[in-house]
Amino acid sequence: MNISLNINGHARAADVEPRVLLVDFLRETLGLTGTKIGCDTGQCGTCTVWLDGRSVKSCTMLAVQADGAEVTTIEGLSQDGQLHALQEGFWEMHGVQCGFCTPGMVMALTDLLRHNAHPSERAIRDWLEGNLCRCTGYHNIVRAVQYAAEKLQRSVGP
Ligand code: FES
Ligand code: FES
Repeated sequence: MNISLNINGHARAADVEPRVLLVDFLRETLGLTGTKIGCDTGQCGTCTVWLDGRSVKSCTMLAVQADGAEVTTIEGLSQDGQLHALQEGFWEMHGVQCGFCTPGMVMALTDLLRHNAHPSERAIRDWLEGNLCRCTGYHNIVRAVQYAAEKLQRSVGP
């Protein structure tokens, strides 16, 4: 099937088999390997991307279901060479160990910050229910989100 979609601000068109998962399309057809595959069963969240501005697990949908959509992957998050505040937060707060979960964490948690500019620790941990990390114990990931929330608030001003 022919599909066309916008990926990270660029129009893309492709002929895909109807059974191809969105995550495989992103990684194998488009070479956007920042999006990871950790389980393939919808549990780990490493494959999280934005679809029309909402975070989704790209292993739970078919590429053809993204026809006409706007998709953002971790490769499309920085702007003009500047890391997103949350990417900076992961760096500053040591929220990364092996890094395998990080792209999915960042894509899920930036979605949280767009809906809740001042999430409580409870809200951050609740939002992380669908994203698994085997290394960090989550504590520094929570601090990374708090860092980003503060930075974004400062950039908006009082
Ligand atoms: S690879 Fe998609 S949830 Fe694990
Ligand atoms: S940093 Fe290793 S799985 Fe999260």
